[in-house]
Amino acid sequence: MHKVLLLNGPNLNLLGRREPEIYGHSTLADIESRARRLGHELGLTVDCLQSNAEHRLIERIHHTLDDGTEFIVFNPAAFTHTSVALRDALLAVQTPFVEVHLSDLSQREKWRQHSWFSDIAATVISGQGAAGYDQALRFVASRLNRSADTSV
Ligand code: DQA
Repeated sequence: MHKVLLLNGPNLNLLGRREPEIYGHSTLADIESRARRLGHELGLTVDCLQSNAEHRLIERIHHTLDDGTEFIVFNPAAFTHTSVALRDALLAVQTPFVEVHLSDLSQREKWRQHSWFSDIAATVISGQGAAGYDQALRFVASRLNRSADTSV
């Protein structure tokens, strides 16, 4: 089993109740249990963390250096548009990641259209709602299985 980290940023603990017309009706618990289940089918062990605190997200990213995490699926939420520190953490550990957004950032306010992550992400999935996390895990599984094939 490959080890994957599902990381969600601030305010995503309120999913389901937070602006459902933008972010949908799935709760974070729904998204995480679905990710664990789909991950299992795809040969991935999915560890989940949501935090409203930038330093906790940074420290969890640092920990991927030591805990065998091979890929991160990351919705940085509002930190997408502000956090050089999270960008630097990802560059420091070099753990590859997929950037996920529930809403379609290209159709939202101008200031949401800048991301500190997109140019260093393996891919970006935006505007697919909760299904975007499924797509991200499928992308990760295909990447990890492909690299497993080439190493034999
Ligand atoms: C978000 C988009 C961000 O602009 C916003 O701050 C969020 C959620 C999304 O999933 O669509 O909190 O990352």
